[in-house]
Amino acid sequence: MSAEAATVYVPRDSGALSLGADAVAEAIAAEARRRGREVRIVRNGSRGMYWLEPMVEVATPAGRIAYGPVATADVASLFAADFLSGGPHPLELGSPEEIPYLKSQTRLTFARVGITDPVSLDDYVAHGGYRGLRRALAMAGDQIVEEMVASGLRGRGGAGFPAGIKWRTTLQTAADQKYIVCNADEGDSGTFADRMIMEGDPFVLIEGMTIAAIAVGATRGYIYLRSEYPHALVSLNAALDAARRGGYLGSDILGGDKAFDIEVRLGAGAYICGEETAMLESLEGKRGMVRFKPPLPAIAGLFGKPTVVNNVVTLASVPIILDRGAAFYNALGTGRSRGTLTIQLAGNVKRPGLIELPFGVTLGEIVNGYGGGTATGRPIRAVQVGGPLGAYFPESLFDTPLDYEAFAAHKGLVGHGGIVVFDDTVEMARMARWAFEFCAIESCGKCTPCRIGSTRGVEILDRIIANGRDREAEFALLGDLCETLTHGSLCALGGLTPFPVLSAIRHFPGDFGLESGDLPGTN
Ligand SMILES: Cc1cc2nc3c(=O)[nH]c(=O)nc-3n(C[C@H](O)[C@H](O)[C@H](O)COP(=O)(O)O)c2cc1C
Ligand code: SF4
Repeated sequence: MSAEAATVYVPRDSGALSLGADAVAEAIAAEARRRGREVRIVRNGSRGMYWLEPMVEVATPAGRIAYGPVATADVASLFAADFLSGGPHPLELGSPEEIPYLKSQTRLTFARVGITDPVSLDDYVAHGGYRGLRRALAMAGDQIVEEMVASGLRGRGGAGFPAGIKWRTTLQTAADQKYIVCNADEGDSGTFADRMIMEGDPFVLIEGMTIAAIAVGATRGYIYLRSEYPHALVSLNAALDAARRGGYLGSDILGGDKAFDIEVRLGAGAYICGEETAMLESLEGKRGMVRFKPPLPAIAGLFGKPTVVNNVVTLASVPIILDRGAAFYNALGTGRSRGTLTIQLAGNVKRPGLIELPFGVTLGEIVNGYGGGTATGRPIRAVQVGGPLGAYFPESLFDTPLDYEAFAAHKGLVGHGGIVVFDDTVEMARMARWAFEFCAIESCGKCTPCRIGSTRGVEILDRIIANGRDREAEFALLGDLCETLTHGSLCALGGLTPFPVLSAIRHFPGDFGLESGDLPGTN
């Protein structure tokens, strides 16, 4: 055995696991044993460059050297090339931080993901973790809240509501019990930022929730985790245990007079349970149905008590704001979209991955620059931004900056930052039909426009695709239906379903047998 063990990083991230990371880690351990080499394998999070996964990194005196994508069949040749010392090999990528995809990013929320051991509290603290909480503990609740307001952080779950304003409402509502609920349902198509945080740096979410609790006076927190994320459940629970043991959670946080603890609750696989009030119903053990608002959850939420509901990325952005200050965070971004957006690039794209950048980068810079075009090599036809309820954008709108207001001006949404790319084989009329079908399947059924209108929408699109009876009348009916859904739905599932439908018609009228994208009754 060599005197000093080499440290090798193999991601534990679900994306890397699905590409064989566990088998690669085992093969590295076995080959090391065979060669009498001592290795310490750290299962880190992913750097978010999924076309390179499983990406293996080794620690060398000159910094980390990456290799990827590594298959088990490559392991023997990696050892032969002395990769444990950073030796050259056809899969060698050099320093991961120097890969342009990563180097050009502004990683704040994702600062540690891929770098640390996600379940090591020591590693978290050694990389700047819990500095935000320490600062928050020395502040009054309203000071923390005003810092959040000044940062300009808006909710990353979809609606973009200012986090500090929501916290202020809960702070100012007197109650014997308050809650922090983290929305980790992440149901949008093409999104994975929440998952990457929870698997790759769960402490940053726990720290963010703890700061929120101290700010508003909450003592209990829940993470509502979608059941499809079993690996996130494992890392969250391991991190929660470590935080409790380290005194960062419990009845006397860091020896002071503040108490807070967090439990993870699993969802049951319904998209609507990501809507905050349906989520609260589900957390209370009931069927996930949307509640009427008011009252706002910030005033009467979980079990009728004041509750801050925030998305994973929103809460995971809190520690850096408290650590570096509101002005630092607010200096980034554009217009009213401040700080960084964690963009998730997926679908038919050459280089899918996680890209954290200040708001304001254009859609084209992401899709063509970072993404490198389609994986199939065919021309891009459309991208859907903001999940299944987001609009489809054609290439002519690729100069649109990622910014809540700029997207709204194009009748689209940034949502949770998911971008799904389609090549020129996509049939947009079928995508429009699918939007209605999705709404019909996922509708909670509480209000008529969504419950019934979604099914009627599928039927109208079927008739349009079949090129059947009076087409003008069909489009007029479709226009009326979309208007009813927009204005008559209780929540955004029904309310936003017209976005993908109408954007498909507006930008790709030929797919519907139309000369222009104008519909009777809409524009
Ligand atoms: C149908 C529907 C699904 C939603 N799914 C999610 C989700 O999976 N995760 C999430 O954070 N927010 C989701 N939202 C938004 C939440 O209702 C809510 O705005 C959010 O959790 C608030 O946190 P934020 O302000 O930090 O974004 C969804 C909303 C709707 C209408
Ligand atoms: S719009 Fe749909 S999901 Fe939302 S409350 Fe109405 S029926 Fe339920």
